[in-house]
Amino acid sequence: MVPKRLLCISPGDPGAIDALRAEMPDWQIRTVRSVDEARFELRQDAYLVGLLMQVIGSRACSDLERFLRQHSQVQWVGVFGAEAMGAPAWRDLVADYLCDYHTLPLDTRRLVHTLGHVLGHALLRRPRPRPGSQPSSLIGNCDAMQRLRGQVERVAKVDAPVLIWGESGSGKELTAQAIHRQSLRSTGPLVPINCGAIAPNLIHSELFGYERGAFTGAARDKVGLIESANGGTLFLDEIGDLPKDLQSNLLRFLQDKTIIRLGATRAIPVDVRVISASHVDLQQAVARGDFREDLYYRLSVLPLTVPALRERRQDLAQLAEHFFHQFASDRSPRLRGFSSKALAAIAAHDWPGNVRELINRVRRAMVMADGKWIEPDDLDLVMPSPPIEAVLDDARCSSERLAIRTCLDRTGQNVSRAARDLGVSRTTMYRLLAKHGMRP
Ligand SMILES: Nc1ncnc2c1ncn2[C@@H]1O[C@H](COP(=O)(O)OP(=O)(O)OP(=O)(O)O)[C@@H](O)[C@H]1O
Ligand SMILES: [Mg+2]
Repeated sequence: MVPKRLLCISPGDPGAIDALRAEMPDWQIRTVRSVDEARFELRQDAYLVGLLMQVIGSRACSDLERFLRQHSQVQWVGVFGAEAMGAPAWRDLVADYLCDYHTLPLDTRRLVHTLGHVLGHALLRRPRPRPGSQPSSLIGNCDAMQRLRGQVERVAKVDAPVLIWGESGSGKELTAQAIHRQSLRSTGPLVPINCGAIAPNLIHSELFGYERGAFTGAARDKVGLIESANGGTLFLDEIGDLPKDLQSNLLRFLQDKTIIRLGATRAIPVDVRVISASHVDLQQAVARGDFREDLYYRLSVLPLTVPALRERRQDLAQLAEHFFHQFASDRSPRLRGFSSKALAAIAAHDWPGNVRELINRVRRAMVMADGKWIEPDDLDLVMPSPPIEAVLDDARCSSERLAIRTCLDRTGQNVSRAARDLGVSRTTMYRLLAKHGMRP
C-alpha cells in the first residue's frame, strides 16, 4: 500500500492544518512555513501531492512560479482568498501550475476529497521502478537493462579491454561512462575519441601526439589523446572507422602499454584502460578484411551489448518521463505529461534511432504541444491501429444498435413486436436494450 503523504506549505493559520489532520487520519502530513523550507523538504523526501495554504497572493508571484516550475512533479492544490484571483498574474499561475483550488472559507471535507482524488491521479501517472532497482544514469528496469547494469558493475572491477556493441543512439557512450564511473579509475580522466570524426591525416598525431619539429608546423611538443588519458579510461568510439595503418599502432599500444609520439624515438609508458564501441559488427569487418583480426581480439576481451530500444519496450514510458523532466525548462508550464494515446503510440513505434530518437521526439513534442498533455501528433507518431477483433466488435455493436433502433421505430416503440421482428425473445430484447443503454 502506498503511503498517503502531503506536503503542506502554510505560512499562517495552523488551525486550518489541525482541522485537516483531524479529517485525514490516514495521511502523513508534513507542514512547512515557507517555500524555502519546502524546497529543503523536497530535497530530502518525495511527495506526489502538495498543498499551498494561503500562499497564493501572499508573496511575489514570480518567486512562487519559479518554485512551482522546479517542482512540477508534485501535484499542487491551492487554498486562498477569493480576492487573490482578481490579479491576472495569480489567475494564470493557478491555471498553469495547480491541479485544483479552493477558496476561503475552507470546506475541509471537500478539500480532503480533492486531495484524495489528486493523489489517485498522481499514482496512475507515476513511473513504477521495480523493487531493488538502483538509481543509475542508465535508466530502465527491463530484464535486458538489469543484465547490462550487472555486467557494467562486473567489468568495472577489472582492467581488461571492453568492447561495447549497440545500434546507433542505443546508449554505448553512456555505458562506457558508467563503467568508468564505477571503476577504480573514476578519479582519473575519461577521454572519449570518436575515431570516425577525426580527419584521417590528423588522427595519428591526435592519438599519439608529436615532438617539436616532427613535421612542418609542429612548433612545440603535443601530448596525444591516449597519453592524456593516463591514470584513467580511453573511450574509442566508432572503432570500426579507425584507418588500417593506425590499427597496427593501436595494437602495439595495447600490447606494450607504451606510445611513441610522432617524430620521437622514446616510448612513453601510459596506464589506461581501453573501452571501445562500435555500431557495426566488427566480426564482419574482420571477415571483409577491413579490421585487423588480432586487434579485434585484443579489444573484445569483455564484450557487452546494449540492447536496441525496441527490445526494451517496458522501459519506454519511464525513459519518456525521464526526458520530459530533464528538459522541463523547454516546456510550456501548462504541459503536464503524456496522454495515454501518446504512451500507446510510443509503445507501438519501432525506434530505429533508439534512445536518441526518443529524446528528439520528446523535446520536439514539449515545444509543439498545445494542450495539457502531449498527444501522438506532437511526437510525430501515429496511433497504432486497434486489433482486428476490436474493429469487428465495434462494427457488430453499431449494427446491433441500428437494427434495434429501426425495429423499434417501425413498431412505434413496441418492444414485443420489435423483438419478434428481430427474431429474439422479449427477455433477450430487454438485455440488448440495457447493453446498449437504449430505451424504447
Ligand atoms: N538507458 C538510458 N537512460 C538514460 N539515457 C539514455 C539511456 N541510453 C541512452 N541515453 C541517452 O541517449 C543519448 C544517446 O546515447 P549514447 O550517446 O550513449 O548512444 P550511442 O550508442 O553512443 O549513440 P551513437 O551510436 O549515435 O554514438 C544520450 O543523450 C544518452 O544520455
Ligand atoms: Mg556514441
